Amino acid sequence: MEEQTGLESRKAGPIGIFDSGYGGLTVLSEIRALMPEYDYIYLGDNARAPYGSRSYERVYQFTLEAVKWFFRQGCHLVILACNTASAKALRTIQQINLPELDPSKRVLGVIRPTAESIATLSENGHIGILGTEGTIRSGSYELEISKLYPDITVTGEACPMWVPLVENREYHKPGADYFVQQHLEKLFEKDPLIDTIILGCTHYPLLMNKITQYLPKNVKVISQGKYVAESLRSYLQRHPEMDKNCTKKGSIQYFTTDSPEKFGQQASIFLNEQVDALQTNLE
Ligand code: DGL
Repeated sequence: MEEQTGLESRKAGPIGIFDSGYGGLTVLSEIRALMPEYDYIYLGDNARAPYGSRSYERVYQFTLEAVKWFFRQGCHLVILACNTASAKALRTIQQINLPELDPSKRVLGVIRPTAESIATLSENGHIGILGTEGTIRSGSYELEISKLYPDITVTGEACPMWVPLVENREYHKPGADYFVQQHLEKLFEKDPLIDTIILGCTHYPLLMNKITQYLPKNVKVISQGKYVAESLRSYLQRHPEMDKNCTKKGSIQYFTTDSPEKFGQQASIFLNEQVDALQTNLE
């Protein structure tokens, strides 16, 4: 892959959507439903997924490699459709790397828009967050929500087995019930008053049927895709200088760092449409 010259990098390009694997597809489909006119490139780092239990250094290194890869594809705006990458790498990339790489480009995450949009959905102010070990340990949701709504009680539970269940297409099978039930019980042991649960991992909407099966009817479960999509649309409306850097022919391209055949098969199931992917390397 050739490096972009300064001139090419000023041309408008697609919006980049990144995840460690397939989970970001749940965000991509909401974004495309709301803004079908834009061009998108989706990248899944399937060869190195899952990210959830990896160290800060690894998640940061992999995410930075992905961001640079998107910039080489001509993207001006990249969405980290991955809570783990948003929790562990986004701030450093925004504050340290972007000013050096290209201060006119933007990398946005999924935690802030989710926290902004959904904290008010709870009636009693008790919110549960389900996420990867990395996301929960980072305390990012607690931090973002407390900045906006200091009275809300946020309780996290890490579910390290859930991403492998989704990545290995076991999410609708009986084996998944054990792990789903186990973590929901632990969450409610920590705070029995929770009335709203945020799925703080882009893979988890695939487990929605199992999750709702083990919850009291009064507990709301929220997938973040719709809220991230609305926040992106509002961002582009508020930033016409970025909007004009995003091409609008309604196209989508898929890339994976692992087998394109496998990615195509899996992604087609997630998205209910034919997906043809290309293989790429990030280093
Ligand atoms: N889907 C991602 C997230 O939202 C990452 C899952 C993983 O790779 O562990 O956190």
